[in-house]
Amino acid sequence: MNEKVLILDFGGQYNQLIARRVREHHVYCELRPYRMSAEEIKAFDPVGIIFTGGPRSVYDETAPHVDPAVFTLGVPILGICYGCQLMAQALGGVVSAAQSDAAREYGKTPTHFDEACRLFRGVGAESVTWMSHGDYIARLPEGFVSSAHSDACPTAGICDESRRFYGVQFHPEVAHTERGSAMLRNFLYEICGAKGDWSMGSYKDGAIASIREKVGSGKVLLALSGGVDSSVCAALLAEAVGRQLTCVFVDHGLLRKNEGDEVEAAFAKWDVELIRVNAQERFLSRLAGVTEPEEKRRRIGEEFIRVFEEEGRKIGAVDYLAQGTIYPDVIESGKGDAAVIKSHHNVGGLPDFVDFKEIIEPLRALFKDEVRALGRELGLPDYLVSRQPFPGPGLAIRVLGEVTAEKLGILREADAVFREELARAGLDKRINQYFAVLTNARSVGVMGDGRTYDHVLALRAVTTDDFMTADWARIPYEVLDRASSRIVNEVSGVNRVVYDITSKPPGTVEWE
Ligand code: XMP
Repeated sequence: MNEKVLILDFGGQYNQLIARRVREHHVYCELRPYRMSAEEIKAFDPVGIIFTGGPRSVYDETAPHVDPAVFTLGVPILGICYGCQLMAQALGGVVSAAQSDAAREYGKTPTHFDEACRLFRGVGAESVTWMSHGDYIARLPEGFVSSAHSDACPTAGICDESRRFYGVQFHPEVAHTERGSAMLRNFLYEICGAKGDWSMGSYKDGAIASIREKVGSGKVLLALSGGVDSSVCAALLAEAVGRQLTCVFVDHGLLRKNEGDEVEAAFAKWDVELIRVNAQERFLSRLAGVTEPEEKRRRIGEEFIRVFEEEGRKIGAVDYLAQGTIYPDVIESGKGDAAVIKSHHNVGGLPDFVDFKEIIEPLRALFKDEVRALGRELGLPDYLVSRQPFPGPGLAIRVLGEVTAEKLGILREADAVFREELARAGLDKRINQYFAVLTNARSVGVMGDGRTYDHVLALRAVTTDDFMTADWARIPYEVLDRASSRIVNEVSGVNRVVYDITSKPPGTVEWE
C-alpha cells in the first residue's frame, strides 16, 4: 500500500464519513487527532491532507488548532467547514461570526462554482450543497481566491492553486451535496495525484503477508463469537497462519436457531483448530431466577470470561491474542462520555485472562462495510458476512424476565419463522435489524374448539444508519400476516403476535 491520505479530526460529526468516502474512491486514508505534529505528519507521508469540520469557532480561546508547519510540507490540503475556516485564519485571513441570521446556513443550499478551480472542475456551474455553519471567511488570506459562493456566503469555496490549498464551507462528504463525490475525487486524483491503489483484494494480500511476517511460527488464540468482526478476523488469520490459529467458540445456548452449527460449518474449509465449548447448561443455571436485564448482562459477561479462562488454561501460553477490533471502535474509544443506557457485553475484556505476549488486531483499519467485503474476499458464506447485529447476551435479553430452556426454545422457533418470512419477502437486506421477543405476558386465545392461555410474542424490526436512532420498519401487512399466522400455527406455546411500532428514541432496539 503506497498512497495514503491523512484526515485530521477536529471533532465534526461527519468525520468517519469523510474517511469512508475517500476509501470509496480507492484511496487509503486514516483519521487522526488534529494534535498530530508536522513532523509526525511528514513521517506519515500522505499524498494529501483533509481538515475535517468541527463544532467550535476558530476564534474561541480553546478552539483546536493545527501545527502551522503543516502548511510548509508541500502537501495538498482540503479544509472542510471548520477545517476551511481554520486554514483561512492560520494563513492570515479573517473569520467572522455571521452578523445576520441570513448569513448562517444550515441544510441544502444552492451554490455556484467556478469550474476553473481544480477542485470544481467538471462539477457544473450550480448545484446544491449541504451547509452547516454560523461563521464565514470575511477576508481571504493572501494567495487565495473565492471559487464558490451561495446567496449568503461569498466564500463557500476558496483556493490557492499554486500551493494546492482548497477549502469548502459546505460538506462534500454528505449525500445531500449533489456533486460532493466528484469534488472529493478531484481533490484525490487531480490535485493529490492519487492513483487509487486501495482495494479489498490488495488489502487482503497485504494483510496476510504482514500477519505471516509478524506471527512467524507463533501461536494465535481468538475468541470467535460468530459475529461479523470476529468471523472475518478468524478467516483472515486462518488463511495466513492455518493450524497456528486456535479459535474458541463459546456456545452459551443463547444463539439463534442453527447459529452454532453455521459458524462451525463456515470454518470447516480451513485447517484451524476450532474448539466449540458447549456451555449451555452453565449459562442457564447462572441465569436461573434472574429477571433484571443489566444483571443478566453482567452474569453472562462474567460467565463468558470464566469459560474462556478455563479453555485458555487448557491451551496454555500463546504468543498472540487476536481481536476483531474495527476502525470505528478505534476512533470511538476514549470518547466515552455518553450516558450508559445499556452495558454492552462484547468479547473485549479477555486480555486479563489469557496468557499471551501481544494482541493483534488485523481489522483495525477497516470500516464495517469493508470488513464485510474482506469476508467475501476470503470466501466466508453470506449468512456470516451479511449478518445483522446480534447482541453479545443473545436471546437472554429477548426472553423478557426469567430465562428458561423452554422459553428459549419457543423464541428460537418463532424468531426463525420471522426471519424466514422477511427473507422470502426480500426485506432482509433492507431492514437493518429484525427479531422476535418473547414477552412475559400471557393471553387468552382460541384454537380449534379450545381456549388457550399462552405467550405473547412481539416482532421487532428497525431501519437505521447507526443504531443510535432507529425507525420501526414499515413491513407490509401481508408479510406481518404470514409471519403471525405461521408462528401461531407452528410454534407451540405462542397464541398471540404483536408488532412493535416504537422508534428509537424513545424506545431502544432491544426490549431489555
Ligand atoms: P439498543 O437496544 O441499545 O441497541 O437500542 C442498539 C444496538 O446494540 C445492540 N445491543 C447489544 N449488543 N451487547 C451487544 O453486543 C448488548 O448487551 C447489547 N444490547 C443491545 C442491539 O442489538 C442493537 O443492534
